[in-house]
Amino acid sequence: MKLSENAVKVLEKRYLEKDENGNLLEDCEGMFRRVAKAIASADAAYTDEKGLAVIEHEFYNMMANLEFLPNSPTLMNAGRPLGQLSACFVLPVEDTMEGIFESIKNAALIHKSGGGTGFSFSRLRAKGSAVNSTGGVASGPVSFMKVFNAATEAVKQGGTRRGANMGILRIDHPDIMEFISCKSDNSEITNFNLSVGITEDFMRAVEHNLEYELLDPRTKKPVAKLNAREVFDIIVEMAWENGEPGIIFLDRLNRDNVTPKLGEIESTNPCGEQPLLPYEACNLGSINLYNMMDDAHKGLDFEKLEYTVRKAVRFLDNVIEVNKYPLPEIDRMTRGTRKIGLGVMGWADTLCALGVAYNSQAAIDLADKVMSFINDTAQKASQNLAELKGVFPFYEDSIYAQKGIKMRNATTTTIAPTGTLSLIAGVSSGIEPIFAISYIRNVMDNSELVEVNPVFKEAALSGNFYSDELMKKIARVGTVKNMNEVPTNVQEIFVTAHDVLPEWHVKMQAAFQRHTDNAVSKTVNLSHDATTDDVREVFTLAYKTQCKGVTIYRDGSRDLQVLNIGKVK
Ligand code: CDP
Repeated sequence: MKLSENAVKVLEKRYLEKDENGNLLEDCEGMFRRVAKAIASADAAYTDEKGLAVIEHEFYNMMANLEFLPNSPTLMNAGRPLGQLSACFVLPVEDTMEGIFESIKNAALIHKSGGGTGFSFSRLRAKGSAVNSTGGVASGPVSFMKVFNAATEAVKQGGTRRGANMGILRIDHPDIMEFISCKSDNSEITNFNLSVGITEDFMRAVEHNLEYELLDPRTKKPVAKLNAREVFDIIVEMAWENGEPGIIFLDRLNRDNVTPKLGEIESTNPCGEQPLLPYEACNLGSINLYNMMDDAHKGLDFEKLEYTVRKAVRFLDNVIEVNKYPLPEIDRMTRGTRKIGLGVMGWADTLCALGVAYNSQAAIDLADKVMSFINDTAQKASQNLAELKGVFPFYEDSIYAQKGIKMRNATTTTIAPTGTLSLIAGVSSGIEPIFAISYIRNVMDNSELVEVNPVFKEAALSGNFYSDELMKKIARVGTVKNMNEVPTNVQEIFVTAHDVLPEWHVKMQAAFQRHTDNAVSKTVNLSHDATTDDVREVFTLAYKTQCKGVTIYRDGSRDLQVLNIGKVK
């Protein structure tokens, strides 16, 4: 297996099975075998022993060759007693004390198993409104979010993963102004990503500089009015200041809700890529596009890609079957819609290897081509599975029943961030541009290690311009743009997240979104000296290009930044 030293370290620390004294009970290969066996077992009812062994072998190969990886909880928990395999959950928050604390308890159970939770707080009554039972006044969504946050802090997920949450409030909730600025102090609500749930009506009001109404969540009656453009500007200002809140377009999530009869989509998972109904969970998986290229690295091998997508869909559908859900309601909903989220990673590395600049129309065209191929193939694979294993149980309540298309899964595609998966596979994450071409890592004995993007290293070696000195210089500067030692054609292709203008970030997100059932995880990086106008433009472009949401980050705007390129001495 071709795992990097870093990948092995991460797997040993958090993924591999250990005894109570912390001794490893398996190696990385053993982990993939354990996962392949557990996931293939769902096919036992459909094939004989020989057939099952073939499926298990195919699953193992896909993972061991780093062609496809399921989300972290599947790698950690499959074939082990906990058995919780999903990364994404959405829980409802009812407007009662029982409901709120029930939700906190459920979130704790999910975090313990490595899953992340999303919540809409829009149903909670506004701060200061009456509480009948006590004659007192309500604390409002933001103060309850702090309780959710504290609970997350206390549950350290058994040391595997830090708890992650998404908190959403509708733009027409009376407490929206407090919500928008509640993270202006970085030390508050640290275990949440926040997104404002924006409606198309609101965006029209922004466009025409009109007022819009705030509604009492219980009666739906208007209680106040705000100027839409002013509110939008404050969201922009706060996002400029430290990257939060993001925005999500609620009406678009519901336009693509394939089971509208089952309820409304109010929230996504923590990183925004997976809209779900209350109590729904979803398991994700990502294809490593870098390993889908033909041998000569001239283009993508679409035959191999098709094969991998088909196997991956079968794999993810099986995950639903063998998954042990933390709550009976989640079990019912998740098995009912059987949503899966197949996506990609290593996109930027692939573009570099193919000699295509991320910030070019050619890259956008290729994104359209690749993702539409994956989406079509995944849908066909789900249809084939439906013939073999049956449609998803809530099929009759879905738009597919109206169309007469038999599907095994209510959704098939999602673009995840692949934070850890991309590290395991040793490629650029999700559809993000390369973050750094090289960077300096301080290792324990105070010495410095220069890490170089492997695709760049190859290009530098074959172009005869590789030197340790140069790699250090690139790490210091943070880009190869205008660097004389690097040939101009290489400068143009190896662009980093900061070289790429915000509009290209959004165009790339929009291209993948066009062919993705669920949503796309993407951060639009802005330079430190970007203005609030730049942020507003990004938000507006994301709206106009049919993205389902957008998150920005202005370099250096948060105090604690994990990777700080170009600033390392
Ligand atoms: O790469 P990996 O499978 O570890 O996860 P990811 O693609 O970076 O994140 C996918 C989803 O996993 C997120 O959107 C969250 O729902 C969940 N997650 C989490 O709950 N806690 C984390 N620390 C990281 C991710």
